[in-house]
Amino acid sequence: MRKTRIGVLISGRGSNLQALIEACEASTYPAEIVLVVSNVPGVRGLALAEDAAIPARTINHKDFASREAFDAAVNGALQEAQVDLLCNAGFMRLHTEGFVQNWWNRHLNIHPSLLPAFPGLNTHARVLEAGVKISGCTVHFVRPKMDTGPVIAQAAVPVLPGDTDDNLAGRVLAAEHRLYPHALRLVASGAVRVEGETVVGLTPVKDEAPQTPLFSPPLNEGL
Ligand code: GRF
Repeated sequence: MRKTRIGVLISGRGSNLQALIEACEASTYPAEIVLVVSNVPGVRGLALAEDAAIPARTINHKDFASREAFDAAVNGALQEAQVDLLCNAGFMRLHTEGFVQNWWNRHLNIHPSLLPAFPGLNTHARVLEAGVKISGCTVHFVRPKMDTGPVIAQAAVPVLPGDTDDNLAGRVLAAEHRLYPHALRLVASGAVRVEGETVVGLTPVKDEAPQTPLFSPPLNEGL
């Protein structure tokens, strides 16, 4: 089996990178990580890549005069490593339009909400503020506008009474670590494709609809 060659872009902690590294260890997994690029020097994600003996490079955006020049350097590194498919995993820079076009339908991102709800930063605080009872995470193909693009897979988690940003973030992050390897498998194995601007399965599955989980605050006794 020829494995799909993955590049991962990070800016920090790298826990989603670690989830992908672990998934790629299985001989039956259809992808292998061939390069990790961080735009921030010295971050934990780089150490995780090195521990896993994956080539890792720092391309510091501060060393470049423009976004175009930075993106060209990242692109050059990805091409040199013969990357087929790119995964953003906590990468905190906006891409130029040209970069996005270059990786069209070959570029994934993970975001800690059920997109299209709550794109952008400070997601969990805004989820709590809005009082919604379900949150979650989304893996989608990258488009020029931040946190938009065809949705590949999503996971839902409950928002619980008394949640803080931090514990909601932790619950969502645990779901992210399961979701990203799943979504990458779907794309790398060719099980899904983009049709129009939605992601469809190549083989229609006639499963019964799964039982819908319901999320609401606990009811008072007697109701
Ligand atoms: C994750 O919550 C991801 O959804 C968001 O940034 C965070 C990155 O965390 N885009 P990590 O670096 O993967 O630990």
